[in-house]
Amino acid sequence: MSASSSSTRFTPRARFLAAAARQITDHPPVWLMRQAGRHLPEYRELRAQHDFMAMLSTPDLITEISLQPWRRYKTDAVIVFADILLLPWKKGMGLKFVEGQGAVFDFLLHTQDDWRALKPFDAAAQVPFLTESLRTLRATLQDDAALIGFAGSPWTVASYICASFEEMKIQNPDTLHFILQQLTLDTIQYLFAQIESGIDTLQIFDSWGGLLTAEEYDTWSGGYIRQIVRAVKERAQKIGRTIPLTLFLKDSHRLLEPMLATEADVLSIGYESDIALTRARCKNHVALQGNFHSDILLNATPSEVARATEQMLQAFAGYPGYIANLGHGVLPKTPVENVEAFVKTVHSAKDSSLCSE
Ligand code: CP3
Repeated sequence: MSASSSSTRFTPRARFLAAAARQITDHPPVWLMRQAGRHLPEYRELRAQHDFMAMLSTPDLITEISLQPWRRYKTDAVIVFADILLLPWKKGMGLKFVEGQGAVFDFLLHTQDDWRALKPFDAAAQVPFLTESLRTLRATLQDDAALIGFAGSPWTVASYICASFEEMKIQNPDTLHFILQQLTLDTIQYLFAQIESGIDTLQIFDSWGGLLTAEEYDTWSGGYIRQIVRAVKERAQKIGRTIPLTLFLKDSHRLLEPMLATEADVLSIGYESDIALTRARCKNHVALQGNFHSDILLNATPSEVARATEQMLQAFAGYPGYIANLGHGVLPKTPVENVEAFVKTVHSAKDSSLCSE
C-alpha cells in the first residue's frame, strides 16, 4: 500500500487534530459528549462524597473526573470536567443543580443593569481551578489524547440566565442583544484562558440553538459564535498554534447552512441528520462529528451497538475529516459495556479512505 496519510499510525492526539483539519486518518478518532459523568460508577462514587459545585471547582477532582472515561475506554479525546454555566456562576450568579429541576440560579437577569451588576469576568480570579487542572491534564495526557476545552454559546447560556428568555427576545430584543454581546466578550476571554492552559481544541455547545428558525439563527446565535471563532483563530495564530473549533447543535439537520456560516472547523451533528445529505453539503468545508443515537447506546445490547456503529462508520466512510461521537450526550443510565462496544468498534474500523465514496 502506498504511504498515504491514511496508512500512517497516528497518536490519539494527532488523530483527533488531523480529522479536525479535514484529513483522512487510520481510523476515525472517537470520544463521547458527556463522557465524564453519571453513567460511570467511578464518577457516581465521587459524586456521593462531594457537593457537585465543589467538584466543579476543585482542581484534583476536575482532573480525576476528566480522566475517568479516558482510563476506561481509551477515547482519543478528553473533555475537561466543567459546565457551560460556570461562567455566569463565577460572575456572581449563585447556582445549584437540583435533582429533577436542573440548573437553578439565585436570581435571573431582567435588564441591562442586572448584567452590569455582575462581576467583570476575570479568568485568573474566577476560574484558577479550571486552568490549573487543564495544565495538569495536558502534562498527563501528552499525545495519548487531545484535550478539549469548551463553553456554551452565548445564546444557550443566555437561555439559562435571562428571566422570561423567549419573551425577552420578542419584547425586549435590545436587552437580549446587549447580554449576548457581553457574554460573547466574556466567552472569548474564558476560551483564551483555556487556550493558554494547554487545550488542543474547543467545542461550543449551542444546545438550545434549535429554538431558533433557520432565518433567525445567525442574528441570535450564529453571529455571536462567528465572533468567538474569529477571535480564537486570531489568538491561536498570534501564538503560532492551530485550535480547531467544533460547534455542537442538536437540531443540526435544520440549521446546517447557518452552522456553516459560523466558520467553525467541525460541525457536531445530531442523530436525526441524514448523513449522505450532510456530507454532500459539508465536504471541503468542515469536518463532521457525530451522530450516534444516545438511545441506542442506552437501550441496545453491546453487539447491537457494535452493529449500529459499523453502519454509521460505513455511512461516513471516506469523508475527509470525521470524528466518531454521539448525536448528543451519554445518558446517565447508559451501560459501560455499550460505551466500550462503541469505542472498540470505531478503534477497529479499517482505514476509511479505502471505502468507496
Ligand atoms: O463529559 C462531559 O461532557 C463533562 C463536562 C460537562 C458537564 N456539562 C458536566 C455536568 C459538559 C460538556 C457539560 C455541558 C453542559 N452543561 C451543557 C451542554 C451539553 C448538552 O448536554 O446539551 C448544558 C446544557 C449544561 C447545563 C447543565 N449542567 C444542566 C442543565 C445540568 C443539570 C441537568 C443534568 O444534566 O444533570 C448540568 C449538570 C451537570 N453538568 C452534570 C454533569 C456531569 C450532572 C450533575 C450530577 O452529577 O448530578
